[in-house]
Amino acid sequence: MTRWLLALLVLAGLPGFASAAGGGAAYEHANINLSNQASLQRGARNFVNYCMGCHSAQYVRYNRLAEDVGLSEDQMVTNLMWAAEKPHETMEIAMPGSDAERWFGVTPPDLSLIARARGKDYLYTFLKGFYLDDTRPAGVNNIALPGASMPHVLWELQGLRRAQIETDAEGHEVISGYETVVEGQLTEEEYDSFVLDLVNFLVYIAEPVKLERERLGVWVIFFLLVFLLMSYLLKQEYWKDVR
Ligand code: HEC
Repeated sequence: MTRWLLALLVLAGLPGFASAAGGGAAYEHANINLSNQASLQRGARNFVNYCMGCHSAQYVRYNRLAEDVGLSEDQMVTNLMWAAEKPHETMEIAMPGSDAERWFGVTPPDLSLIARARGKDYLYTFLKGFYLDDTRPAGVNNIALPGASMPHVLWELQGLRRAQIETDAEGHEVISGYETVVEGQLTEEEYDSFVLDLVNFLVYIAEPVKLERERLGVWVIFFLLVFLLMSYLLKQEYWKDVR
């Protein structure tokens, strides 16, 4: 009995242990909702407007995207398809990787699968986590990815802030707070929800069938319940004669 209890305790502790070992900054929780189509639509718009200058999403087809997030083909063409000509094209970009590498030192990664690689909370923290740093080529550093070479492309929305650095008891430098240097166009809550829509979109493109699977799952469970009821009634019927 005690052995079982111990095993259970170890198992319950494992996920916590794994994330603790992930290390680095503590990530903010991104409370996204994949079934919120309006949020996915806004996320897609934000992505096309602010990210596709540098990042592709090469596994995402425009027409599939439109269908999943509830846009008509017309809406998709006018709002999303600036970089493509045909609805079945994927979200490629025109910038050659070699140029990007010359400009930024690294090629901006394709973002199709980034949510699976990094997790939604990381993305949320990353997109909210830029702060001014003169020692970096792009003038900013990032709390989730120290030494990041991505510029703060959303600075007009979030504004610019400087980190207040303190030395903790063990002599490490830690960020204790931020001071606003340039006000953004959005309030803090508005910026959070702007980023949340983007993260929702990135999570969706990393596994588009998830939406379909969840919709289908509801029907499967409904079917199983009906089936259960029928089998029960049938059993009653048969056993009536046996008894
Ligand atoms: C001006 C070009 C540019 C734009 C625009 C841009 N990025 Fe980036 N991004 C980069 C570069 C360069 C990197 C590589 C950073 C590195 O590895 O240091 C990067 C890396 C990333 C990463 C990976 C971070 C990691 O952990 O490896 C994510 C996620 C990301 N960008 C998201 C976005 C999103 C979302 C947008 C739109 C709001 C965006 N980027 C717009 C240049 C850009």
